[in-house]
Amino acid sequence: MRTDNTIVGHDICVRPAQPADFEQLHAVDVRVFGRLAYPYFTLRQLFDAFPECWLVAARPSGLVGYSLGMPSTDRSHAWLFGLAVDPRYRRLGCGRLLTKETLNLLGTMRVENVSLTVEPANEPAIGLYREFGFSMTEHRQDYFGPGEDRLVMTRRIQQHTRPSRQPASMIPSPRPDLAHDRGRSRCDVSGE
Ligand SMILES: CC(C)(COP(=O)(O)OP(=O)(O)OC[C@H]1O[C@@H](n2cnc3c(N)ncnc32)[C@H](O)[C@@H]1OP(=O)(O)O)[C@@H](O)C(=O)NCCC(=O)NCCS
Repeated sequence: MRTDNTIVGHDICVRPAQPADFEQLHAVDVRVFGRLAYPYFTLRQLFDAFPECWLVAARPSGLVGYSLGMPSTDRSHAWLFGLAVDPRYRRLGCGRLLTKETLNLLGTMRVENVSLTVEPANEPAIGLYREFGFSMTEHRQDYFGPGEDRLVMTRRIQQHTRPSRQPASMIPSPRPDLAHDRGRSRCDVSGE
């Protein structure tokens, strides 16, 4: 069941990340992106530099996803640098909820526009971003090196004076049988 900001009954909660999450967050990143995962130290130091920019989707037994949306220094613009959901927990609403809460968070930071890069063949992610009103603004050829084109997608975001609420979403019990996602490419690097 899903209410406003909450999907009830799945035992998955979207909340701000904490330092203690990073071992598991890195494990999720490796599971999702394989050789393209961020090194642990990069994740950890990005957290120290921008602690308020991270959200995780967590079960009582561990993390199943995360998102990272970072504003520019003047906070007029932000980039969605990371969005990943463990393949075993896809199509449950985690990606949608992480995206929604990240946009809310950026809204509280007075960000006006948010962009992301996505591999042109990553249909699951493109579908999700379109749902949130992102539109294609650019096709950057060889953006990450030869053959590594990326689409840039952008949307305006609504500004909030404070967080709409603490992320707290309960998503029904895992349905590995529904884990039929094939996407495996990150926002900013090539996928497989
Ligand atoms: C993209 C990703 C984060 C989506 O996570 P998720 O938890 O499965 O997404 P949700 O369950 O919230 O799905 C939200 C919507 O996205 C779209 N979507 C998600 N997976 C899809 C798929 N395999 N095929 C088509 N559309 C898909 C659908 O519109 C879906 O809504 P619906 O389930 O009501 O049809 C996940 O597939 C993932 O981690 N992929 C690998 C990493 C990645 O590509 N990150 C983004 C890079 S820019």
